[in-house]
Parts: sequence; structure tokens; C-alpha cells
Amino acid sequence: MSAAAPSPEILAAFEAAKGFMPTDEGLALYAAAMAAGGLGLPLLEVGTYCGRSTLLLADAARRAQVTAVTVDHHRGSEEQQPGWDYHDPETVDPELGVMDTLPTFRRTLRRAGLEEHVVAVVGRSPQVAAVWNSPLGLVFVDGGHTDEHANADYEGWAPHVAEGGLLVIHDVFPDPVDEFTGQAPYRVHRRALASGAFTEVSATGSLRVLRRTGAGA
Ligand SMILES: C[S@@+](CC[C@H](N)C(=O)[O-])C[C@H]1O[C@@H](n2cnc3c(N)ncnc32)[C@H](O)[C@@H]1O
Repeated sequence: MSAAAPSPEILAAFEAAKGFMPTDEGLALYAAAMAAGGLGLPLLEVGTYCGRSTLLLADAARRAQVTAVTVDHHRGSEEQQPGWDYHDPETVDPELGVMDTLPTFRRTLRRAGLEEHVVAVVGRSPQVAAVWNSPLGLVFVDGGHTDEHANADYEGWAPHVAEGGLLVIHDVFPDPVDEFTGQAPYRVHRRALASGAFTEVSATGSLRVLRRTGAGA
């Protein structure tokens, strides 16, 4: 096992968790989180869902002795609503009839023994970003896929990435092949590079890792 790879137990928990991230992208996210952990700053995720990727950030945070913060309103993205391809009926609150991924997320984290390394913020990403005021070692953007949401996530969180810190963007599809998730993350990826503040470090599947190498966003 390399220092930047999760243990077999954490990898198994990741693969067993509900979610959409393939293993190769998870391993790239984990390596990025381990590298960013060296800055001694929190690692933040936008888009908790049921905690699949959070497990990896949590374990990297545990090893780096920092905290993982994960933000989600837990009501699901557009493409996860009933009638859409990414809908999972098990995520619907039977009493309210709306999506609520928070209980599943909490079970995922508890089972992996990682609860104490995570602060879960329940709320809309731009609202949470508006009250956030400290530097981050890593920002992982995996929230809403409309241009409105993806741009708001970038504008709200990218400015908090510390010098040398990492901005990780999921679902970057240069070709317009995925009609459900769309290309907003790709446009945000282009925007980050065009800002001159970020330089690409790696690309794995649809996951892009960028490092802050300049000021701004
Ligand atoms: C693709 S899922 C995240 C997947 C997760 N990272 C994983 O690996 O399984 C996107 C999540 O973003 C959340 N989301 C979408 N727009 C949001 C917003 N504006 N504020 C907070 N959460 C949002 C949805 O509720 C959903 O759980």
C-alpha cells in the first residue's frame, strides 16, 4: 500500500457506499487529499450525497490530523430527483416524500469509524460559502451540475483554496456525451485554468486536480 493510497478497509467501505464515483477517480481524490493534508488545513467537499467520496476525504483528514468538511442540502441534485436516471428511491424520506440523503450518509460514516474526522454542514453551498472565512487545503467540487450551481460553487469556494492547495473538480466531460450531468463542470474547469490562479496537476477519468499557483480565482 502506498502512502497516498487508502487501506483495503477504507477502499472496501468506499466501494460499498452508495454513490457514483468510480474507484480510479476515488484513488486520485484520495491521493490529492493526502497531498493537500500536508498544508495542515481543512479539506472541504461540496456534494456529500451518501458519503462515498467523503469517506476518502475523512480518512485522509484523519491521517493528516486535519478536519474534513462536507456541504450538502441533502435534497439531491436535479438529475437525482424522481423520474431521472440517477434517482435512487431508497434516498426518499417516506414521511415527507422528498429526498434526504443525510441518514444514509451518517450510516456510511459511522460504519467506517470516521465520524470524528468530519464536520457535515447541511445547507445550500452558496449560503454556506457566504459565511465561510478561512483557508482550505483542498476544495472538492461535486455538487449541482447546472451552470448556475457549478459557477456558484467555484465563486464561493475557490477563493478559499490556500496557496499550494488543491481544487478538485468532478464530472469534467470535454465531450458533450453525458446529457444528464451536462458540461457545466467542464466549463468551470476551463474557467479555473483561465483565471491564471490554478494549474492542472492530474486528470483521472472525469476528475481534475488543480493546484493554486497564483492569486485570485
Ligand atoms: C453527484 S452528488 C455528490 C456525490 C458524492 N460526492 C459521491 O461521491 O457520492 C451531488 C450532491 O450535491 C448536492 N447539491 C446539489 N446542489 C447543491 C447546492 N447548491 N448546495 C448544496 N448541495 C448541493 C446534492 O444534494 C447531491 O447530494
